[in-house]
Amino acid sequence: MSSKLSVGILGATGVVGQRFIQMLERHPWFEVAWLAASDRSEGKTYSDAARWRLKTPIPANVAEMTVSPATPEGAPKIIFAALDAAIAAEVEPRFAEAGCAVVSNSSALRMQSDVPLVIPEVNAGHITLIDGQAWRKKSGGFVVTNPNCSAIGLVLALAPLQEQFGLEAVMAVTMQAVSGAGYPGVASLDILGNVIPYIRNEEEKMEEETLKLLGKLNGTKVIPAAFAMSAQCNRVAVEDGHTESISVRLKTKAKREEIITAWNDYHSEPQDLKLPSAPEHPVVYMEATDRPQPRFDVDMGGGMTTAVGRLRPCGVLEWKFTVLSHNTIRGAAGAAVLNAELLKARGYLTASKK
Ligand SMILES: NC(=O)c1ccc[n+]([C@@H]2O[C@H](COP(=O)([O-])OP(=O)(O)OC[C@H]3O[C@@H](n4cnc5c(N)ncnc54)[C@H](OP(=O)(O)O)[C@@H]3O)[C@@H](O)[C@H]2O)c1
Repeated sequence: MSSKLSVGILGATGVVGQRFIQMLERHPWFEVAWLAASDRSEGKTYSDAARWRLKTPIPANVAEMTVSPATPEGAPKIIFAALDAAIAAEVEPRFAEAGCAVVSNSSALRMQSDVPLVIPEVNAGHITLIDGQAWRKKSGGFVVTNPNCSAIGLVLALAPLQEQFGLEAVMAVTMQAVSGAGYPGVASLDILGNVIPYIRNEEEKMEEETLKLLGKLNGTKVIPAAFAMSAQCNRVAVEDGHTESISVRLKTKAKREEIITAWNDYHSEPQDLKLPSAPEHPVVYMEATDRPQPRFDVDMGGGMTTAVGRLRPCGVLEWKFTVLSHNTIRGAAGAAVLNAELLKARGYLTASKK
């Protein structure tokens, strides 16, 4: 019998759900035992229900699984959730209420004050917010979230700067891949040869989530970081990988080499604990003048490393640079799997074995 923990995936047929299946195929701790999606997919085998968009084949055991309804009955106690926010707002609390550990990608509960919004390298300590959740007290269930796919790359690049020099102001302009819109997502006639300068709610999410992630835990509350923050978000005709042009003003003076060293030396609890999905280097600075580029650099560190480049002085703030992060791996499924690994390492998943 397998000693791995059984996990389920809500929204298993979607873009992020597929990444979960791919990333969990050979996971040393977790094993996919249950899949759910909408009533359009319910009762079908996974291979019939999902329009598989990844380059690796559907794992054979998953292909034959029957898609379950999105209800907690019969589900394992550890659930990765990749549902649209409006649906997640109803469904995720039901699973937490029923005693499940819900590791969510959705924005529905991210800003709720008792729900941790976590990047394990940056704010692993916020995970203790779980202990104050009513679900936890009642049934043992809880909800943990990972950030929006643009916020995560930005915050991984900002965290070493915040830690060493402090941040006063941040401006971010994104160029976001089409896979970030799910499947079928943006119509090809809308995006080919085009840039769409609007992604609904994205700028608000980037701004508020960045401040929560870099905020300080004070007892049972997160005090948001206090720097000024502005985001502008665009959709571009790239398959995977969100690129961001960032300008920052730091609190204390820093030399170019010191900033680059802060990025390249950045490591944290996931690296020290050698969590299975933690990249050796969460942030890597690329010296080439024309990198990072999504086509060449998006898979760095198995898609879990944030690539940074083009650090140079900014005439308005102080420094400017480019960030690239894989939106469905570091920005979604990989972020959630790393959160689950952190939960297990901290003893939150021991009672979840099916
Ligand atoms: N794509 C990204 O890069 C990315 C990054 C970070 C976060 N996210 C977030 O992750 C979530 C999922 O995104 P996605 O891109 O994977 O979307 P998607 O491709 O549209 O997939 C949505 C999934 O939800 C299922 N679903 C729809 N209605 C449902 C219902 N009423 N009950 C149960 N399941 C239902 C769909 O099942 P059917 O196939 O049966 O319709 C499908 O499995 C969203 O909250 C998104 O904002 C996405």
